[in-house]
Amino acid sequence: MITETQLLDVLSGVIDPEIGRNLVELNMIRDLKVSEDNVVSFTIALTIPGCPLKNQIENDARAAVMSLKGVKDAQITMGAMSAEERQAVFGKTTPDLPKLNQFNKIGKVVAVMSGKGGVGKSSITALLASQLACQGKKVGVLDADITGPSIPKLFGLKSGGLRGSEQGILPEITANGVRVISANLLVPSEEVAIIWRGPMIASAIKQFWNDVLWGTLDVLLVDLPPGTSDAALTVMQTLPVNGVVMVSTPQQLAGLVVRKADSMLKQLGIPVIGVVENMSYYPCDQNHGVRHEIFGPSHVDELAEAIGTTRMLRLPLDPQVTLLGDAGKIEEYTSPDLEKLAALLN
Ligand SMILES: Nc1ncnc2c1ncn2[C@@H]1O[C@H](COP(=O)(O)OP(=O)(O)O)[C@@H](O)[C@H]1O
Ligand SMILES: [Mg+2]
Repeated sequence: MITETQLLDVLSGVIDPEIGRNLVELNMIRDLKVSEDNVVSFTIALTIPGCPLKNQIENDARAAVMSLKGVKDAQITMGAMSAEERQAVFGKTTPDLPKLNQFNKIGKVVAVMSGKGGVGKSSITALLASQLACQGKKVGVLDADITGPSIPKLFGLKSGGLRGSEQGILPEITANGVRVISANLLVPSEEVAIIWRGPMIASAIKQFWNDVLWGTLDVLLVDLPPGTSDAALTVMQTLPVNGVVMVSTPQQLAGLVVRKADSMLKQLGIPVIGVVENMSYYPCDQNHGVRHEIFGPSHVDELAEAIGTTRMLRLPLDPQVTLLGDAGKIEEYTSPDLEKLAALLN
């Protein structure tokens, strides 16, 4: 006799490739039945009806069920979740936040996201923050990429220096006046790795929102963990993000993962306010500014179109970004592109 538990067990090995979580956990399996002659039937409720990965999910689910000894056949009906069910899976679009510290007044929350790591997300977050601060805006950076040490390092902020008061934790302040909070400022030294699991990351993010004395901010930039990972999803559901700046590089793979990230945002109902193609070209000074497309041709137009925005920017590969970033002096970087970057937020 094949039991429901056995079936759910094998089906929990099937991952929705777009969301990165399994079908059972996502509550996608409905009307699960086993007939007397061991034919299994069920419905898979997809998060979006036109899900491009429909066939793959169906095939994977069939293979999983058929792998159980004794199963004669699997009859799968493909369906879709209702809007309410979708919300239950992805959390509320306006998160139920614990009260914001009474001393804080935060204008806009903008998250910086990428399909994968190493595309320059943290560097761009830091440059954007610094540029906005130079324009007279009150800016905060919440480093939500807990396991990456980049944000404090880029600004040259030392670990272990955070101070607090009865009212809350005081953010560090950079040379240009950007207020910064990062878990990496809490650890005793830069070399200490932070190995927190999901729930701890979620509670740290909540604390960074609630228990930090941000004061009045025009904009709070959030450096997200890369991609559509659990950590990224947690952050997006924990903070009231108003919009996202999406960072990519010209490699096609990077474009594909960005589209995946965009799909997650669509499901969460968070708009993309601009696409940045970083390391898009190398301007050759010796050759009258000819642009060498070192990592291949630009995909920013396609990408922006796929995401449904006309706001895009190509940033050059510039060794100064790395040099200044490594030296903790990212704020000293100057380029006319920074104004265009900041303009994405208007
Ligand atoms: N436009 C750029 N030109 C040259 N190097 C860059 C540029 N943007 C980022 N980098 C370098 O690429 C590396 C990864 O950048 P980082 O901001 O840490 O990426 P992420 O946060 O996406 O992992 C760093 O060494 C950084 O200095
Ligand atoms: Mg980073």
